[in-house]
Amino acid sequence: MMGQIRIDRNAFPYPMPMVLVGADAGGRANFMPVAWVSRVNFKPPMIAVAISRGHFTNGGIRSSRAFSVGIPPVSIIDRVDYCGIISGSSTDKSRLFTVVTGEETGAPMAGECSVNMECRLVQTVELPTNDIFIGEIVGAYADPSCCPDGRPDITRIRPYTLTMPDNRYWETGQDAGRAWDARRSQGLHPHV
Ligand SMILES: Cc1cc2nc3c(=O)[nH]c(=O)nc-3n(C[C@H](O)[C@H](O)[C@H](O)COP(=O)(O)O)c2cc1C
Repeated sequence: MMGQIRIDRNAFPYPMPMVLVGADAGGRANFMPVAWVSRVNFKPPMIAVAISRGHFTNGGIRSSRAFSVGIPPVSIIDRVDYCGIISGSSTDKSRLFTVVTGEETGAPMAGECSVNMECRLVQTVELPTNDIFIGEIVGAYADPSCCPDGRPDITRIRPYTLTMPDNRYWETGQDAGRAWDARRSQGLHPHV
């Protein structure tokens, strides 16, 4: 295959955006960092997170039928990392962040995140080790300083990403060009 080498099939897309998932677990806010996340539907807007079945968060999402997905800025990388080393089953993680409650679902969100999406659980897909929770985004919020023109700006959100299996965090880099713009650079009419 074009001179490519075989690598371990336990492979990952690069980079993986880091998010902070929040859920109400028995009346207490709980948070966990998640790298396996994706937008999965256009209208209505839906997002999915793939969470290993053993985590404390799963029970909270299942019982409250809601969760939040926040984008933490790189400035709180250590706090978010710590949140992924301890479990809400044995430690109260509700005080690690300023808890803000979603207006539509009551899902807890971390006020320190640049962007927050509150989601109503619409479907749970049970894979061998992971639950995929698919949520409809019913409310979205952002730190105003991240939205100079009223829209989120990646340079101000300061998201960070993960690579596996080396387990490292990366800041986002340079603007690499406009999207949906290849027709122009190929000399084609934009609407062909
Ligand atoms: C960088 C990083 C990325 C992670 N990504 C995921 C993930 O995508 N899915 C998952 O199930 N767990 C992931 N985890 C593990 C959970 O965040 C961790 O086990 C957490 O303590 C679970 O919290 P809980 O038991 O309170 O639910 C990740 C942890 C870290 C540090």
